[in-house]
Amino acid sequence: MKEVCVITGGGSGMGLATAKYIKDRLVIISGRTETKLAAACEELKKEGVEAIYKTCDTSSRASVAELAKFAADQGVIKQVINCAGMSPSMTNGEKLLKINALGTVYVNQEFAKYMDKGSVICDVASNSAYSLPGAMVKPFKFFYKQADKNEDLFLKGILKVTGLISDDYLSAGMAYALSKNFVTWYAAKTAFDLGPRGIRVCSVSPGLIATDMGNAEVEHGGDLVEKACECRMGEADELGYCIATCADPRNGYLAAVDVLADGGSTRGNAEFKHDPLAPLKMAGIIK
Ligand SMILES: NC(=O)c1ccc[n+]([C@@H]2O[C@H](COP(=O)([O-])OP(=O)(O)OC[C@H]3O[C@@H](n4cnc5c(N)ncnc54)[C@H](OP(=O)(O)O)[C@@H]3O)[C@@H](O)[C@H]2O)c1
Repeated sequence: MKEVCVITGGGSGMGLATAKYIKDRLVIISGRTETKLAAACEELKKEGVEAIYKTCDTSSRASVAELAKFAADQGVIKQVINCAGMSPSMTNGEKLLKINALGTVYVNQEFAKYMDKGSVICDVASNSAYSLPGAMVKPFKFFYKQADKNEDLFLKGILKVTGLISDDYLSAGMAYALSKNFVTWYAAKTAFDLGPRGIRVCSVSPGLIATDMGNAEVEHGGDLVEKACECRMGEADELGYCIATCADPRNGYLAAVDVLADGGSTRGNAEFKHDPLAPLKMAGIIK
């Protein structure tokens, strides 16, 4: 039986960059756009990666279940890398929560049905997961715990708060930050649920990375470039290597943890390059 690595969101950006480092097994990339996936497979084959694709919308449990069954039919699933996601400039808060947060629940749960000892799930979150103060996030944990029990309560609970923000982008931005904070939390939760079966789970939080998505967010997240140690965006290839390494079965003790690969921007923002006037500037009160 072949060993299999599944990468959601593998048709572009960091998912595709990650696939380039997986040369010892069959790679199945997925996403919603077939033409993009077909082109990505051709690119991977030229790089010496054995790759096939299957379309999947991770915001639908049925679609994820179909992908998991398809992958299990190809061989033994050793790695699942969940890169599919959207950002605030692409869609609204509800869709962000459905794709980024509930999509992670579906991927972790549906693939776990077919996974065994020595396999790994790596969920891709974001440095936005760290952008809200801990005290602000704490009350949302009640809703996080509903995500795999009562999706409606999970969505309504979070959207009721983010909906109080009148600016559409800032409202979606808060939903995005919560969706990705949830990813780090849920990956850790899954690590404890699946640990006794020998399945390892971790997450990776990229900073601002020069993919199509990252470039679209520069205008709003541009401050992060200055806050990074080298004052630059990350490259998709750098994150591809980081994610592939975290998902490597040889990294067997990396569990229930989030790897913050953001060039230092979160730490810079919080301490070494902290600007106390930033909230006033963001709100447009001062320049
Ligand atoms: N770039 C950044 O600065 C940055 C920073 C922090 C975190 N991230 C996270 O990193 C991950 C990868 O992003 P990227 O920068 O590599 O962007 P990207 O190139 O846009 O990749 C995202 C991929 O996800 C797929 N996708 C989107 N919605 C989907 C859905 N409902 N079901 C299945 N696939 C879906 C997209 O393909 P289709 O549209 O064809 O489905 C696309 O191939 C995302 O989770 C993103 O939130 C990115």
